[in-house]
Amino acid sequence: MFYTKELSTLKHKKILRQRRIFSKDCIDFASNDYINLSQNKKSLKKAYKLARNKNINSPRASMLINGYSILHQKLENKLSSINQFENCILVGSGFLANIALFESLCRNGDIIFIDEEYHASGILATKLINNRVVFFKHNDEFDLKNKLYSAIYGKNSRIIIAIEGVYSMSGNIAKKEFAQIAIDYNAILIVDEAHSAGTIGDNLLGYFDYYHIRNHQNFIKLGTLSKAYGSYGAYILSSNHINEYLQTRAKPIIYSTALSSFDTALALVNIKYIQKHKNKIIQKITSIKEIINKEFNIKLDSQIFSLKFQNQTDMIEKAKLLKRNNILVGAIRKPTTKMPILRIVFSYKHKKKDIQKLCKLLKE
Ligand SMILES: Cc1ncc(COP(=O)(O)O)c(C=O)c1O
Repeated sequence: MFYTKELSTLKHKKILRQRRIFSKDCIDFASNDYINLSQNKKSLKKAYKLARNKNINSPRASMLINGYSILHQKLENKLSSINQFENCILVGSGFLANIALFESLCRNGDIIFIDEEYHASGILATKLINNRVVFFKHNDEFDLKNKLYSAIYGKNSRIIIAIEGVYSMSGNIAKKEFAQIAIDYNAILIVDEAHSAGTIGDNLLGYFDYYHIRNHQNFIKLGTLSKAYGSYGAYILSSNHINEYLQTRAKPIIYSTALSSFDTALALVNIKYIQKHKNKIIQKITSIKEIINKEFNIKLDSQIFSLKFQNQTDMIEKAKLLKRNNILVGAIRKPTTKMPILRIVFSYKHKKKDIQKLCKLLKE
């Protein structure tokens, strides 16, 4: 068989992955369903009606052929206006969006500086642009500055910096300083807001909203529709200039079918829901963070609670104990993270008694 050796090594290291269907009765602390919109029946109905009224079951082709529809345009306009960016372009997924950005923006002679804990899609994308990639220490603006200072640039080198708004594994919020560094160095700043859009900021819009950072021509925001927004797909917000370039150069945008019509409609409906209910959502999430603060004396940055373990066996045992008690969490192993972690995600739907049950078991 072709991969017997590789599979047996993975089995031996206990890092063979499996996909499973979990019972609906589990108390779910594993999903990125931050606002519980994945189960909102009213959104489903509204999105169905919206997609049906527009008479578009499927996009049929790439956006650059004839797959671009009024629904796509509506969602792009909505995202640009709430985030106060000049322009927006939809992409099939967050994974594709990172490939699109890195591969198209980083041309010969340019250098990209990327946080060492950036998402796997960005890390994979760096393989497409080798020689021009510098990793800096996680969320460390001083290390980035040192590396920016000592890099060797060509006459026309562009500088690109890539960070996440909320880091998917640790739950840390990226430091505010990165935005200013990008301006000082006239660098393009990519902020992957997969886990920050819909979860942080006065208007639940993410990193820029959280720090009240005014928009700038150099900023690019990559967001996903699959997490807080309860749908599927992704978007890239930027200046008109960069948007024009991406739609002509970014391969995952040009050579891939446009975003599914229903997912586009669902994202539109859910974004409106979040805008309408943002105060209630913020209040509930704040009260959940207060429970964790009280139980563990930890101030959570975001809705992600990352619990580190010295060894994998202990972490897996804890995940199993939780599972026996009907609680589902993410059991994250190396090499996804440097140390094994339990990744616990709090959502708008969680009840106080369930969080307390989780805390009690975690402390056991
Ligand atoms: C930080 C980050 N960026 C990008 C992605 C990929 O997004 P998608 O699931 O839409 O492909 C993820 C997915 O989990 C993520 O956590």
